[in-house]
Amino acid sequence: MTLPPHIGEKLMAWAGIEGLTHSTKSQHRKRLRVIRDQMRRLSSDFAGGVSSESRYSNAYLLYNFPLNFMKTMFVIKEISSRYQYFRLPRSECRVLDIGCGEGAGMYGAYYALKDTDGAQKYRLTGIDYSGKMLEHARQMAAHLRKYDASMKVRLVRQDVSDIRNFAPRKKYDIIICSNSFAEIFREDVIPKKYIGVLFGHLVNEGLLVIVEPALKKFARRLMQLRDDLAGHKAAQVILPCLHEGHCSLLQIDNREEWCHQSVAWPPPEFLQILNEELNREINVLKFAYLVVYKSKTQKVRPNGYRVISHLLMEKGRKKVFLCTGNGRVELVRLNRSKSAHNTMFDKIEKGDVIKLTDVVERKPDYWVVSAQTVIELM
Ligand SMILES: C[S@@+](CC[C@H](N)C(=O)[O-])C[C@H]1O[C@@H](n2cnc3c(N)ncnc32)[C@H](O)[C@@H]1O
Repeated sequence: MTLPPHIGEKLMAWAGIEGLTHSTKSQHRKRLRVIRDQMRRLSSDFAGGVSSESRYSNAYLLYNFPLNFMKTMFVIKEISSRYQYFRLPRSECRVLDIGCGEGAGMYGAYYALKDTDGAQKYRLTGIDYSGKMLEHARQMAAHLRKYDASMKVRLVRQDVSDIRNFAPRKKYDIIICSNSFAEIFREDVIPKKYIGVLFGHLVNEGLLVIVEPALKKFARRLMQLRDDLAGHKAAQVILPCLHEGHCSLLQIDNREEWCHQSVAWPPPEFLQILNEELNREINVLKFAYLVVYKSKTQKVRPNGYRVISHLLMEKGRKKVFLCTGNGRVELVRLNRSKSAHNTMFDKIEKGDVIKLTDVVERKPDYWVVSAQTVIELM
């Protein structure tokens, strides 16, 4: 998964570093210094709970836009790869982006859908209260329409803290909230009433996609929302969770755990150059997310368990933690049990989904990989 090159080109042109490459970077030295400084201020403001995307919009465009674009793209692609029945050929796909900013969420979704969904037309609606962010979203739409004139974008300037004021005429196939709940809700919970109103704007079989920063506060709020929805018939959480049970991390009496995803991707050259002197971990997309499916019928879940820890090395053994419908499970393989059947164990990464055959369930929360256990990466 890579950032479409023409999007990178547009972002660079906007920020005044057109054609930036390793061989031309010395010509852009002054501009790069300004942008890096803005990037530092943007993240320190974010850490202090201040929203300054509009103020440092060049930095936001160059850094956050591509990362947020890729995160939504990843999530939408994961939906269709884990749940094949979402590849419904619809003639028109309608997407709503709440707190769209420059449109990273809806444009990332559009690029993912274009590859998998089979719809003929895309209708994207973005809502945000920042005129500056919407202006960038509008310019990006004009740029993207050069490549697909059938894609239409509508931008609405509105405060969405009270979503009841938004009354669309038609329902949406997908509603995206990409990094916006972090700003819209300052409290410790995401109001269920708000989710209920958004659900009312979805078609039956529609999806609500929430992506949030991978920080404890935001991720735990999502875990709580997920837990509140557990077992709900019409609002089924289908990702990252692969089961209908309660959140296995919330069940642990340890507030230090939070569910988030880390996905490796190849950052474009301009981002690598910007990151010189900043040294951020830009080659991994980190985020918390939730995909909720609106349906009257219970859908078949994919086989397998989500890995919710890194591969942990201990003396004489390796282990990971899995999320299961019956809580968190420790999965252990002794080094002496390594075999051709379970060799995939060494390749497991956080966020993977694995299938186990003939695993030894010593205790409900302690499973052992024997030499006969087969491990498949899904
Ligand atoms: C962190 S940015 C995320 C932008 C974009 N969705 C993305 O993923 O890059 C949060 C956005 O939410 C918007 N926002 C925050 N509170 C809002 C509110 N009450 N009403 C409308 N927009 C809001 C901000 O203007 C900003 O564009």
